[in-house]
Amino acid sequence: MNFKKDLAAILFELLEQEISADELELMIEKPKNASHGDLAFPCFTLAKLKRKSPNMIAQELGEKIQSPIFEQTEVVGAYLNLFLNKKLVSEKAVSEIITQTGHFGAHEFGGGGNVTIDMSSPNIAKPFSMGHLRSTVIGNALALIVEKCGYKPIKINHLGDWGTQFGKLITAYKLWGDVEKVKQSPIKELLALYIKFHDVAESDPSLEDQGRSWFKRLEDGDEEALMLWQWFRDESLKEFSRIYELMNIQFDSYAGEAFYNDKMDRVVQLLEEQQLLVESDQAQVVELTNEELPPCLIKKSDGATLYATRDLAAALYRKENYNFAKSLYVVGHEQSLHFKQLIAVLSKMGYPWAENMVHVPFGMMLKDGKKMSTRKGKVVLLEEVLTESIAMARHNIEEKNPNLANKDEVAKQVGVGAVIFHDLKNNRMNDIEFSLEEMLRFEGETGPYVQYTFARACSILRKGKWQADVPPANCHTTWEKEWKVISMLIEFPNAIQRASENLDPSQVAKYVVDLAQAFNKYYAEVKVLEESAEQPARLALVYSVTVVLKEGLRLLGVEAPEEM
Ligand code: ARG
Repeated sequence: MNFKKDLAAILFELLEQEISADELELMIEKPKNASHGDLAFPCFTLAKLKRKSPNMIAQELGEKIQSPIFEQTEVVGAYLNLFLNKKLVSEKAVSEIITQTGHFGAHEFGGGGNVTIDMSSPNIAKPFSMGHLRSTVIGNALALIVEKCGYKPIKINHLGDWGTQFGKLITAYKLWGDVEKVKQSPIKELLALYIKFHDVAESDPSLEDQGRSWFKRLEDGDEEALMLWQWFRDESLKEFSRIYELMNIQFDSYAGEAFYNDKMDRVVQLLEEQQLLVESDQAQVVELTNEELPPCLIKKSDGATLYATRDLAAALYRKENYNFAKSLYVVGHEQSLHFKQLIAVLSKMGYPWAENMVHVPFGMMLKDGKKMSTRKGKVVLLEEVLTESIAMARHNIEEKNPNLANKDEVAKQVGVGAVIFHDLKNNRMNDIEFSLEEMLRFEGETGPYVQYTFARACSILRKGKWQADVPPANCHTTWEKEWKVISMLIEFPNAIQRASENLDPSQVAKYVVDLAQAFNKYYAEVKVLEESAEQPARLALVYSVTVVLKEGLRLLGVEAPEEM
């Protein structure tokens, strides 16, 4: 279902194979205005090559093209505009979607290669922040999208469960902690201890030394230190798991920073062997002057390792264990420098695969135009956000459809879907304004709008007694009125490809909104449920829309209830 490719093949023959079909395909455009056809081929490049005017070339090509998939061509200036044969293409599209169902839109260019996706990665003993929500949601969608393109995603939760802050936390717990309080509400209590540590340390700097020494004990495998650390970690993970469960997100690995504790000596040794480590301010660093980056800190003066050391060990481990084709890091743009340094150090170490590591940054979540901060009590707890969103969705159902059978289940699908969709619909680099009312609206570019359109289409199918296993034998329609919807449906594979290539799920989110809008417009104009010769074809179209909306939402990690 790739008409650009088909057209490129035709042009390739007509042009006597002077330009490769792949190059031609890249030149073909999709006109913004439907009145200019479905595809357009600009002839500027050919004009130079053939020393003729572009207009003349367009004329000549237009006269020569003879293919059943095009019903009309038209020359406007340097452009050859082509109109697809509505009947042929529509029938092909609909029957392809009916037979392939959820597989429609898949690609194979991934070739089965592994893609590791470092995502979510919250810090233990701290609240799950909006930044971690964004990483979770974007990472999960990317996993589904690359999988659809033939890669094998490996989702890794690189937990922030190691580092000097755990020395501080243990110090604070030993001084002021209370077992019961921690058990009752672990993250809240541990955060309070951590904040108290910093407050008190301002007037009593000896606390910092104690913190450092506890972290040293932790790194050296001291029993008491390890036991406390393990406990903090277990309790925190219990809280995080509730959020992942609500969002229906699973991981292939929870190997966090601590996992690399015994793998860092090797990194340091490798760096030493290559004489890349130098001393600076009593610390060990890798200079990155040629790369125009600040030095990358590997070891502190007291021998403690750092965030970057652990990421170096993790990169080596991932290459060795997963032999990734691509390694993605879905982490906020504040950490851009860190990932530049990481990739630069690995390149210096002579690993060509460092090129396949990609930092996938994203913008901030704002509240009233300001950064949402987890510090200083201004905490917006994600779990609360999700529960509130679900409650609001439940309330909407009670108002609009009180007789719905499985209200709680649907409220969860809509409430959670709204939060996820709101996050994914913008280009990932944009900052986004957090607003529950906005997310849950039934009109506009929201998750509930797309879900509602899907449910509405499902209800039409139920009323029309459509049966997916009996494809309409003979479609008595010209597909004129259906064409806008059809031309959206055939765009689905392209939207997926763009999302994968740009590592940007918003391509799919925008696509499903556009398809939902095209469908709603169609349904307002055409009486699908009225019996007519066209009805089987129209129901087949409605069914195709449900297939693609559902699959599009699935790729974003959003469920599609059939009734809501
Ligand atoms: N835990 C870190 C944070 O919250 C994010 C970790 C990202 N992944 C990585 N491999 N560095 O800032």
